[in-house]
Amino acid sequence: MHVRQYQAGDETALATIHNKAFQHLIHRLPEIYQLRNVGSEDVQDWLKQGSNMLWIIESTDQIIGYAQIRIEVEHGKRDVSVLQFMPAQKWDLAQTNIAILPEYQKRGIGTLLVEEILEKYRGTAELASAHTFSDNIAGERFFSSLGFTMHDAFYYPPFSDKYPIANSSIYETLEFEHLTAPRNLNPNVTIRRATVDDAAVVAEIHEQNVWWCDECNSLEWSIRFIKGKYGHTVFVAEIDAEVAGSIDYYRDGRIGISGVLPEYKRRGIGSTMFYKIMKVMKKAGFKSAFVDSGLTQSEAIGMYAEFGFTIQRRQNAWIKKLM
Ligand SMILES: CC(C)(COP(=O)(O)OP(=O)(O)OC[C@H]1O[C@@H](n2cnc3c(N)ncnc32)[C@H](O)[C@@H]1OP(=O)(O)O)[C@@H](O)C(=O)NCCC(=O)NCCS
Repeated sequence: MHVRQYQAGDETALATIHNKAFQHLIHRLPEIYQLRNVGSEDVQDWLKQGSNMLWIIESTDQIIGYAQIRIEVEHGKRDVSVLQFMPAQKWDLAQTNIAILPEYQKRGIGTLLVEEILEKYRGTAELASAHTFSDNIAGERFFSSLGFTMHDAFYYPPFSDKYPIANSSIYETLEFEHLTAPRNLNPNVTIRRATVDDAAVVAEIHEQNVWWCDECNSLEWSIRFIKGKYGHTVFVAEIDAEVAGSIDYYRDGRIGISGVLPEYKRRGIGSTMFYKIMKVMKKAGFKSAFVDSGLTQSEAIGMYAEFGFTIQRRQNAWIKKLM
């Protein structure tokens, strides 16, 4: 067995391995996870995002497996370099994109591939990370056997004492036939579609709440977001004619809660805007809503429970220290 970097011309073999190895999940997971059979153009797309790289394991006559990675430098107290075993797309409802041809699985080949990759980046990256769905027993056991440990939230002091460098997330849904008003509905809160005039306050709301997304704090990003350039329909929540929060839905039914400004918290504004956007979605023909939240977002997770959302699965974060 030989481990090497991807070369042009490998795409068809990699697409075949992906489709065979993930076949059971492609059939089982709802569309929102966007896991589907891919072709060689998709493999080229995986590589287009930033510093993505594919490592390949092959025998003398064929490619047997691959792993997608990238080196991400996280800017905290100091820069921390992380070897990320990446999902195929920079798409958060996903697992690490590693696959071995089914007829070669459970023969130590995945282990060999990951160990060689870890060895190549030892000295460059301080941590390695991976993501698995909690119901992917093989994937979970695999990373565990490689010495990765699973964390709800992984704090790394050289990076930050306040923010985790990686965290697990939960995915939850609510069928709209079960939608009821929250106990703490605030009758003074209204929602309306955001306009570009709201871009500054929406950027501020992101800065206060969505700390892990640097780009979301900029005015330019907010303008594109509000204009729907990323596929979102964006609303602001107002109280006494002042914008206090922002919320959106994505075209696939996923709700994004940008948040409520700190001075407006604990007044039922978050629950009320959440309820109101679900009513708008229901009217627009959606049958259910989907939310994903990092486990550090305890306020949001408590709110989903109040509305009767049910947990579908977790996306677990796995970490291995390399230094
Ligand atoms: C996960 C995957 C990459 C593992 O590759 P592999 O070459 O089969 O793994 P290895 O033979 O090196 O196994 C190492 C350990 O992983 C665990 N493991 C691997 N396959 C497993 C399975 N089907 N069920 C339970 N545990 C499994 C075991 O702990 C195993 O150690 P053991 O054989 O001593 O018990 C491979 O099964 C695969 O391609 N799966 C489909 C795609 C996928 O789910 N990718 C992972 C997304 S996170």
